[in-house]
Amino acid sequence: MELRIRRKVSINAVPMNTASLDTVAINQRMDHFNGHDEVWLFGYGSLIYKADFAYIERRPASIRHWVRRFWQGSHDHRGTPEAPGRVVTLVPQADAVCVGMAYLITPDTFGHLDVREKNGYLRFVTELSLDDGRRIDGLVYIATEENAAFLGDAPAHDIARHIAGSHGPSGSNADYLLQLAEALRDLGADDPHVFAIESELSNLARADNR
Ligand code: SIN
Repeated sequence: MELRIRRKVSINAVPMNTASLDTVAINQRMDHFNGHDEVWLFGYGSLIYKADFAYIERRPASIRHWVRRFWQGSHDHRGTPEAPGRVVTLVPQADAVCVGMAYLITPDTFGHLDVREKNGYLRFVTELSLDDGRRIDGLVYIATEENAAFLGDAPAHDIARHIAGSHGPSGSNADYLLQLAEALRDLGADDPHVFAIESELSNLARADNR
């Protein structure tokens, strides 16, 4: 499978510190867009609906060969180190299309983004297709299965139950899921994985209210 994605810093060359999980230092060594005044960032999770940073332009976009999955642990936003929540990352899948939001930002914004995405996410270079037809290289934060917070696959029902019971400094894990599902509907994106977990979560809420 050809992945249309490239990195300057190899994960193997810079082993993750599994004790701290913190990817800030690795990401700050990422020099692919050095010398550029502006860089496109692709967001596929909370970065779709929570833009707590300055941007020059924002447009719906997609990337190929990746699918969104609730397979990453969250120790710092929607859970705690003792009880991690579950958030999305991207998993390679040939010919898949992942719909999200692209932001044109200035490189200094990565200071904030690297801290926000520090719990296992690394910056990768990828080709973005913008909704106006432009195709352009940009960056995306992905938490690969090598990172210590990676949780991996589980049945939708189990993921929903995990999400229902998780909270962290950024709020409830359920809000993360519900805001993401709503943002994807606004984008017209079909994401059976996210919508199945959302539906399991509402079944759980109904069962609890009986
Ligand atoms: C992203 O949104 O692009 C990364 C995952 C997240 O922060 O939820």
